[in-house]
Parts: sequence; structure tokens; C-alpha cells
Amino acid sequence: MSKQAIGVFDSGIGGTSIFKEINALLPHENTIYLADSKNAPYGNKSKDEIIALSIKNTELLLEKNCKIIVVACNTATTNAISHLRETYNIPFIGIEPAIKPAALNTQSKAIGILATKGTLSSALFHKTTDLYSNGIKIIEQVGKGIVELIEAGETNSDEMKSLLHVYLKPMLRADIDYLVLGCTHYPYLIPLLLEILPKHVKIIDSGLAVAKQTQAVLRQHELLNMTTQNTENIFYSNGNVTVLKTILDDKFIVKSLDF
Ligand code: SIN
Repeated sequence: MSKQAIGVFDSGIGGTSIFKEINALLPHENTIYLADSKNAPYGNKSKDEIIALSIKNTELLLEKNCKIIVVACNTATTNAISHLRETYNIPFIGIEPAIKPAALNTQSKAIGILATKGTLSSALFHKTTDLYSNGIKIIEQVGKGIVELIEAGETNSDEMKSLLHVYLKPMLRADIDYLVLGCTHYPYLIPLLLEILPKHVKIIDSGLAVAKQTQAVLRQHELLNMTTQNTENIFYSNGNVTVLKTILDDKFIVKSLDF
């Protein structure tokens, strides 16, 4: 049993989509979230830069005595999680695009993946697609510019709409029936994607699977918090906190911090 917090970090506000799933499944857990908005997006950075930023975030969460760290960013997971696991003696949970369920269930034998350049060019991503691409067409698309718009609170702007139309066009031409969201910022686009995509195209993100994995690993290490009182969920941001506050319930604590 441990009251220590679950640490979560992302390049900005996108990982809150993962936090919400964790909080729904594990409401008695204390959490500390780092929104590294100052350095967003991670998706255009080199592997070394992404590793350095992931180390900085991890060390801050360890200073705050976290018991497990959720890397709530696909780009940081695919580029840095093996380094983090080799370096620190604490469990890490990562996020990978949910290619497996899409590849196993597609009827049209074509699936689309929208993710950052950093994720799509990573060795871990290629390893996963190689495993599931047999007989299936995988249409990859870099979501250039999307994270910046979401960080600015523009999930439904004209600019976002035209970017999505451009990015989805080759996928729809290839007759995809699954769209995999390979970035934790993208679930905030689901209402808009539902307007744009034909009804039969299913959207998959990794949030619930990550929350279940976090629960399983905490249980395995006997780290679940069994007390039910005074739970604290704190969000630290090194960027503008306005958008963060609008997407979070008022009961959560949002603070500015230079990290
Ligand atoms: C980014 O910072 O570019 C996106 C984060 C992610 O890949 O989930």
C-alpha cells in the first residue's frame, strides 16, 4: 500500500487524456502531472533531445517521491523509455500506438496511423508495425502542426479542420476502417474526427489500456493506495496554464512551475 503519487509527464497537455483514464480507474491514487509545454512539441526533436527532456521530467517526479512514472507521450515512449528503464529503479508505463487491435480487427485490410514524426520514425514503432503489417496496408501520416494547435486550445478551429482534411485524405482513399491515434494530444480531436470521418471508420486510442496496465503494475509491486481519503491530483505546467485549466475539472490543482 502506498500513498506516494503516480507521476505522469507529457510534452504538454495531451497526456491529460491518459490522466483522465487513470483517474477514472484509480480514483484513490494521488497523482503528479508535469506538462512540459515550454518544450512542446517533442515530435520534431531528435532522439537525444527527447531523451534529455524525459530525464529532466523523470528526475523532477522522483524528487517529488513518485512511485511509478507514466510516460504519457507517444514520442517520449518510443524514443526514451528503454533508456529510462535502464537508468532508474522504478516502474515506467509507456504509450504506444494501438496498432495491434486495429490490425487484428480491420475488415478492409487498411488502417491509418496519425502520429508525430518522432514516433513514426522510431525503431520501436517500426518493430510494432512489422509484427502486425502482414497482409495489411498501414497508411502513416505525420500530424505536423496539430500538437501546437491543441496546446493553443484550438481543437475545432478552421486551421485544424483543414489540416485534418489534408492528413486524412490519403487514408480515406485507401479505404481505412480503423484510425489509430498515435499521440496523446489527439484524443482531444475525437469530436472533430467524428464529424469528418465516414461512420464505419473506428477511432482507437491507448488511454484505457494504459490505465489498466498502470493498475496491473501497481498491484504487482504492491504499490496500490488502499486509503480513500484526501486524494490530491496536482498538475505542474511550465507554459500557459489557461488551456490546461479549461480541460480539467475544477477539483484538480493546477500550478505554474519553471522546470
Ligand atoms: C509531441 O509533443 O509532439 C506529441 C506528444 C506525443 O507524441 O504524444
